[in-house]
Amino acid sequence: MAERTALVTGAASGIGAALVGLLPDAGWRVLALDRAPVPAAPDVETLTCDLTDPAQVAAVVARVRDEVSAVAHVAGVPGTAPASTVLAVNVLAARRLIEPLLGTLDSVVTVASVAQYRSPEPDDVLDELLACGDAADLDRWLARHPHAGPAAYDTSKKALVRWTRLTAGRHIGGARLNAVSPGPVETPILRDFRTSMGEADIDRAAAAVGRHGRPDEVAAAVAFLLGPSASWIRGVDLPVEGGLLAARAAAAAAAVVVN
Ligand code: NAI
Repeated sequence: MAERTALVTGAASGIGAALVGLLPDAGWRVLALDRAPVPAAPDVETLTCDLTDPAQVAAVVARVRDEVSAVAHVAGVPGTAPASTVLAVNVLAARRLIEPLLGTLDSVVTVASVAQYRSPEPDDVLDELLACGDAADLDRWLARHPHAGPAAYDTSKKALVRWTRLTAGRHIGGARLNAVSPGPVETPILRDFRTSMGEADIDRAAAAVGRHGRPDEVAAAVAFLLGPSASWIRGVDLPVEGGLLAARAAAAAAAVVVN
């Protein structure tokens, strides 16, 4: 019998689906949320919700409030979507879903991306984004800080990591919040990244570390941070990218030596 219950968003595909596959064996009951259908499985209950719709998110919060002890916000929208949708799902939905539950949650994991390092936005601009409470606020933020879809994706993930870290820092002793930042992973969203970020960037990342990641390799890191084995880990952003950041650092250091 599962002792704890995790809400997983983005559960119908890719990393979220892999996480839903892992958690029951680790003692979790799972509430698997997506706008797309999620296959039925033992210890998994499905919730249909479009995360861009505040009423649907509020209904989910009310529905899960008394039973959920952890949330993994895995759902994400790539830069091929309009910037307002990217920000709504990747940032605003995370806050709408998680903030009302923080008083009773043990742990939260958000899935960001190494794409965050492409965003030049400083903390004060990210904080303005994190202060947006609805779609109209996001539109006003976009009017002040124009972002096309791909740039919005990069900035959304940078803001999501900042929110995760700051919220963790504000809840020491309460819910543990951590982020996971994957490099490219073989899931359906990778096709969109090839379009929005460019074939060359995605291929360079695979060349640097030998291949793309697998969904289960990212899901395992999320499951670890979500569970009690990570009890002393708060406010970190864990890269899960086969050493991509290390390879880039080594290449940059070699270039300095050569020049
Ligand atoms: P995926 O496309 O396989 O899964 C994304 C899921 O999010 C889908 O099931 C989709 O239906 C759901 N979703 C999107 N918009 C939604 C909405 N409005 N309401 C409810 N659900 C919605 O992609 P993948 O790879 O599993 O992505 C998971 C997370 O990992 C995303 O946050 C993505 O940004 C991040 N990521 C993925 C990388 C990759 O190369 N696959 C690299 C870095 C980060």
